[in-house]
Amino acid sequence: MVATRLALCLFPAWALGQTSVKWITVEDGPAPSFSLSSSGISYQFHVDPLTLDLIHDHWGGYAAETVPQSALNMNGWGGAYTYRLREFPDSGRGDFRTPAIHIQHASGTTVSAFSYTGYEVQSGKPGLPGLPATYGDDEDVSTLIVHLYDEYSAIGADLYYSIFPQHNAIARSFRLTNKGNSTATVLRASSWSIDMPNEELDLIDLRGDWAHEANINRRAVGYGEQGFRSTAGYSSHFHNPFFALAPPTTTESQGSATGYALLYTGSFAANVERWSTGWVRVLLGLNPLHLSWPLEAGDTFTSPEVVSVHSETGFTGMSQSLHSLFKNQLSRSNHTWETRPALLNSWEGLGFDYNHTVLVELAQSAADLGCTLFVNDDGWFGTDYPRDNDTLGLGDWVAQPKKFPEGLGAYVDDVNAITVANSTAKMEFGLWFEPEMVNPASDLSC
Ligand SMILES: *[C@@H]1O[C@H](CO)[C@@H](O)[C@H](O)[C@H]1NC(C)=O
Ligand SMILES: *[C@@H]1O[C@H](CO)[C@@H](O)[C@H](O)[C@H]1NC(C)=O
Ligand SMILES: *[C@@H]1O[C@H](CO)[C@@H](O)[C@H](O)[C@H]1NC(C)=O
Ligand SMILES: *[C@@H]1O[C@H](CO)[C@@H](O)[C@H](O)[C@H]1NC(C)=O
Ligand SMILES: *[C@@H]1O[C@H](CO)[C@@H](O)[C@H](O)[C@H]1NC(C)=O
Repeated sequence: MVATRLALCLFPAWALGQTSVKWITVEDGPAPSFSLSSSGISYQFHVDPLTLDLIHDHWGGYAAETVPQSALNMNGWGGAYTYRLREFPDSGRGDFRTPAIHIQHASGTTVSAFSYTGYEVQSGKPGLPGLPATYGDDEDVSTLIVHLYDEYSAIGADLYYSIFPQHNAIARSFRLTNKGNSTATVLRASSWSIDMPNEELDLIDLRGDWAHEANINRRAVGYGEQGFRSTAGYSSHFHNPFFALAPPTTTESQGSATGYALLYTGSFAANVERWSTGWVRVLLGLNPLHLSWPLEAGDTFTSPEVVSVHSETGFTGMSQSLHSLFKNQLSRSNHTWETRPALLNSWEGLGFDYNHTVLVELAQSAADLGCTLFVNDDGWFGTDYPRDNDTLGLGDWVAQPKKFPEGLGAYVDDVNAITVANSTAKMEFGLWFEPEMVNPASDLSC
């Protein structure tokens, strides 16, 4: 209440008004409120007029108006920042939950106070330099950019929010710019951060390993922190960089569900924290254990992108929105919409034990069954370290003369000359290649 009255005193009526592009509305003023909304979803937050901190209001199904979160204000042992649903939580101001952003200044201190300075809205979506990102034209997506500034570190933060209404999706990332004169270090960067009110929620994620990937792991969000991460340097099959949050009653086909996916193949961290008040903070981004990024004067740092989709038709709706978003607005492959060919891979039949003659015979058998693609798996390479078992040769991508006395080209020509059963199509050829693995016993290593 105090905040509202002050806002009215401080900010004259002429400053108010409304700015909008497709699907984004801003109630203007020195402390605006923002709404990204379509028939299926709404994402809403506002600027606190007293502190210029961003307050999260709503992410989920369509909401006509910003849900006033002032009702959540409460008294307790903490200060104002303890009892806020924050949008971009920084560190060291009495918010004792895990922050989305943590920066060490040249002096060694790590307190930040990011304050609102302005915003832009635009149709379409700017690219994310050097990182994979969703894309789209003016008919697909609109973008809100909110500018913040931390006077302690002299670092600016631009928060990017894009709405894809056809896919019930929001994409988020942020860009830091060091506007000061000394190097700061970014220690923590969660591309997605919201605080949700006290609701019963399950956290659903995918864990696994070789030959048993993507097992569904569902548990209630309890008090304290729960989450998972990759410290492998790649996102890995141990935990996928994805999770869903849904009420305990949500099923595959019924109830609401919100899915979160990080579009990044490096180490990551997902953190869901139910604070003492029952409120739930949701963070997804880089793994702080692998982050210590020197941000020199004038430099920028761009976080990878997180996309989130909301469904009112259970996990099926959530999966379908993610699939349609990724196929239409993320993949740039020419093969995205092609039916996958029926293929035979040499591995199951022959392992490492083959040559030109035997492989062409296998390809002919596959063609007789109607396969249109023959893939030569592991074992075709290595001269000094012949790849006849999996202990040697990996990294030496030169065909073995013993297996291909006439060379790889003559062998591939023979495969391509085979006609697929009952058609005029010729057999296509694919070659196994795993550049990320190298055997110590190889020309490449030795
Ligand atoms: C950076 O250095 C310049 C020149 O000394 C000074 O004018 C400016 O205020 C400094 N900026 C910050 C953020 O300290
Ligand atoms: C996709 O197809 C277009 C048009 O045929 C071609 O110019 C482009 O190089 C292809 N892209 C890839 C990645 O193959
Ligand atoms: C290819 O392998 C088969 C089966 O091991 C063998 O019978 C044949 O002699 C080999 N051909 C050549 C050219 O090495
Ligand atoms: C090819 O056609 C013959 C005759 O109709 C049929 O028996 C055979 O199953 C077909 N093969 C494939 C791979 O479709
Ligand atoms: C793998 O092949 C190499 C070279 O033929 C041989 O020396 C080695 O004993 C083999 N290792 C295994 C585990 O079969």
